[in-house]
Amino acid sequence: MELIFATNNLHKLKEVQSLLDNKIKLRSLKEIGCAEEIPEDYETLKENAAQKAHYIFDKYNINCFADDTGLEIDALNGEPGVYSARYAGEPCSFEDNMNKVLEKLQGIENRKACFKTVIALILEGKEYYFEGQVNGEILTEKTGIDGFGYDPIFKPEGYDLSFAQMSLDEKNKISHRARATKKLVEFLKNR
Ligand code: IMP
Repeated sequence: MELIFATNNLHKLKEVQSLLDNKIKLRSLKEIGCAEEIPEDYETLKENAAQKAHYIFDKYNINCFADDTGLEIDALNGEPGVYSARYAGEPCSFEDNMNKVLEKLQGIENRKACFKTVIALILEGKEYYFEGQVNGEILTEKTGIDGFGYDPIFKPEGYDLSFAQMSLDEKNKISHRARATKKLVEFLKNR
């Protein structure tokens, strides 16, 4: 089966690719000639994931899925949440976003946070959703160089390493996106 992953983020593509079995052939947006920025205009992860998947399905008429992810920090009342990509304003880099989080948490003891992912799949015109979450905490400084986004400041519960200190395989054992992707794979296997 061929599926498009509606993302321009090569890190996400790599993470998800390594979780799919060889019955699912993942194609990138580049392969179908889609170079545009995919909109995400809503205020929930689910709506944004659905919007991204619909954008590709409606335009290219091809089975596809998209994910939307947010980092929710307890002491910041769930911020940056659905605004994780543009927390420090637009345009902004991963560094800008991490710096903003670190500044806002300066002197705060409660560093609990979680990553949440929602995957929206559109298969033959029908929508399906898969969710994944990982709990952890925000470190006091950036640690590690791998991964992307907030990985250098997020340490998953039960581990002594940040996501950015983990190999792709290690992150994929526990991450929000991996948990949602595994549910997607199970669903596709059983239909
Ligand atoms: P998106 O809208 O799903 O692309 O995710 C919003 C933002 O969350 C991204 O720009 C990243 O900064 C961050 N993000 C998403 N997934 C991860 C992850 O696995 N690790 C760290 N940050 C992530």
